[in-house]
Amino acid sequence: MKVIAFNGSARKDGNTAVLVRQVFGELKKEGIETEMVQFCGQRIRGCTACYKCFENKNQRCAVDDDPLNEYIEKMLQADGIILASPTYFADVSAELKALIDRAGLVARANKNMFRHKVGAAVVAVRRAGAIHVFDTINHFFLISEMIIPGSSYWNIGFGRKKGDVQEDEEGLETMRILGENMAWLLKKINQ
Ligand SMILES: Cc1cc2nc3c(=O)[nH]c(=O)nc-3n(C[C@H](O)[C@H](O)[C@H](O)COP(=O)(O)O)c2cc1C
Repeated sequence: MKVIAFNGSARKDGNTAVLVRQVFGELKKEGIETEMVQFCGQRIRGCTACYKCFENKNQRCAVDDDPLNEYIEKMLQADGIILASPTYFADVSAELKALIDRAGLVARANKNMFRHKVGAAVVAVRRAGAIHVFDTINHFFLISEMIIPGSSYWNIGFGRKKGDVQEDEEGLETMRILGENMAWLLKKINQ
């Protein structure tokens, strides 16, 4: 089994990446393969609303000049998908929103192709707005007929500067338990 994570942060190996790796730790203990794609501010454009995905029905976005189709392919091949983001003005980063909008519309054009995969949100925040980020990501999972495991708190870690989140013990513990629950659910679904 495999879990793919997309980290929407513009900052490589920042707080969002730390939180994702904490989830990965538990998944790896259960023998689940992991991979994190870090966007690091690379250019991923938003949806152009061309609706060609509904004509083509080929599990691809018709806009093919950025890595989006490669990412859709990774999502299709994975059993679990983590969408991780820092909080930017109380929402996901622009690049993660572009992935949600384009992969989300392509999925709807192709019989909800992420149906029954396991999905989890991971959010880094300095102070406020993280719940809205968490909700944005979960809206994508829920409309995609994906299954969402919980944790002991909502999946949020606090920190401003790179690495600050290492000081947020409760945030780290929340991610550890999320990893445990994600592994448990993946094993139940795929047994
Ligand atoms: C453009 C921008 C907007 C931000 N907006 C918020 C915000 O609304 N609320 C907040 O608490 N922190 C905000 N932050 C701080 C980041 O969410 C915080 O530093 C986070 O830990 C960054 O994660 P990273 O290290 O993975 O990039 C913002 C940072 C940037 C660059």
